[in-house]
Amino acid sequence: MTLTIENRTLSALQADLELLFIQNKDIHGCEDSALLQAIGFEGNHGSSQLLPEKRRFYIGLEKFDANNLQIAAANAVKALKKFKYTSVKASSSPFDAQSFKAFCEGLILGDYEFTHYKSKKEPTRLAAITFAYEGTQFSDFETALTDALAIAAATNFTRDLVNTTPDDLYPLQMAKIAKDLASEYKLDCDIMDEAQFLDEGMEAIYMVGRASRHNSQLIHLSYKPKNPKKVISLVGKGLTYDSGGLSLKPADSMLTMKMDKAGACAVLGIIKAAAQLQLPIEIHGFIGAVENMIGGDAYKPDDVLTAKNGTTIEVRNTDAEGRLVLADVLCYAQEKVKPDYIFDYATLTGACVVALGLYSTGVMGHNEELKASFALANRPSGELTGALPFNDHLKEELKSEVADIKNVTGRWGGALTAGLFLDHFIEEENKEKWIHFDIAGPAYTEKPWGVHGYGGTGAGVRLTLAWMQELCKA
Ligand code: BES
Ligand code: ZN
Ligand code: ZN
Repeated sequence: MTLTIENRTLSALQADLELLFIQNKDIHGCEDSALLQAIGFEGNHGSSQLLPEKRRFYIGLEKFDANNLQIAAANAVKALKKFKYTSVKASSSPFDAQSFKAFCEGLILGDYEFTHYKSKKEPTRLAAITFAYEGTQFSDFETALTDALAIAAATNFTRDLVNTTPDDLYPLQMAKIAKDLASEYKLDCDIMDEAQFLDEGMEAIYMVGRASRHNSQLIHLSYKPKNPKKVISLVGKGLTYDSGGLSLKPADSMLTMKMDKAGACAVLGIIKAAAQLQLPIEIHGFIGAVENMIGGDAYKPDDVLTAKNGTTIEVRNTDAEGRLVLADVLCYAQEKVKPDYIFDYATLTGACVVALGLYSTGVMGHNEELKASFALANRPSGELTGALPFNDHLKEELKSEVADIKNVTGRWGGALTAGLFLDHFIEEENKEKWIHFDIAGPAYTEKPWGVHGYGGTGAGVRLTLAWMQELCKA
């Protein structure tokens, strides 16, 4: 589906169907009010009604924040796709540039379907939505549309990767996807595999992947514009499958664990959009792409692993593997690049889902101001976050009898103790620059919510891009 905006009157545009907005349930103001009332359409936010004889499609809008606009747009596009119309036109008059961006993002996100594994693909007829703009700030609206298209496409790209099966998207394949992005957007891409991990002192990532038939990969993908305003490192957990290892997951919990690469996929999506939009920020993506499996070669509870910074880790549960992979990748990232900010993205703990629910990303770190800036980015991005506060008592719980630290703690506060585990691998000079995003809740869904259908959601992509766009304004 293509989205365009033209500096013309609505009546000058040709289309099969006209999309009209009822704002704040003000149904009386519209030409079809009698008809709409007769069929009981009230204009509730996100609801829609087709009047086929008139070739008009009404959408109710009441809430103009990004999240709700995206949801209304996604609902509308899903409803539109059930009809046989191919082209739709609408006025952009209810929107300012910012709300127009959110609405357009919602249209593209709502249009998303993952049909790769379906033998019969239903053709969709809806091919184009064109907006008419009649004011004096056309270029602002054009920019809003360009931004929306890049951000939503990157989110859908991330969703595609998350939805791809573990047999199709294994670590080497993840490296190939990074290389393909590098050639498409002229990025740098360095890849290291298992054979080099031990030479680099990265026993933690090495051991997690040892039992897998797939060679683990450490991917460094970087976008380096001229004269960047800031340098940011993004670190992603890329467990292409998490069986739990010898601390095997129960059958029901293993299902959906193809999503355990969602952090890595978000990093790839963010870099794709940043490069497409030519954001003036140097961005380095570091991805640990690994498969956590069982076998005679598997690492074991009781093993002690030495991470790249020399920290020894007692393995007490092989299902707490993400933090082991991230330990080495964080060390590697900090050795390679001295950033202004370093963020990691990981489907790290079920405990984070217990704490915040399925819809919010857990935000952890030492810098209160930085954490707060992500809470602010909720609003323009449409994503939801919740900050979880570290404390020293929880940090104590990581102490091990046999090594420096252990990879699991007691029952309570599991999202925070996982975050505090990662803190052991953040250099002193980077403590205030670091944020850990636990996306275990929102990265994947088995029931539609918001702008998401079944499967990967692209969590982290819109949030980070909105935050980066704000940073570029400063
Ligand atoms: N990948 C999982 C976390 C996860 C759980 C992501 C549910 C998405 C949905 C992670 O590797 C894991 O297994 N964590 C364990 C940690 C525990 C062994 C300390 C968990 O959360 O149960
Ligand atoms: Zn696990
Ligand atoms: Zn995992």
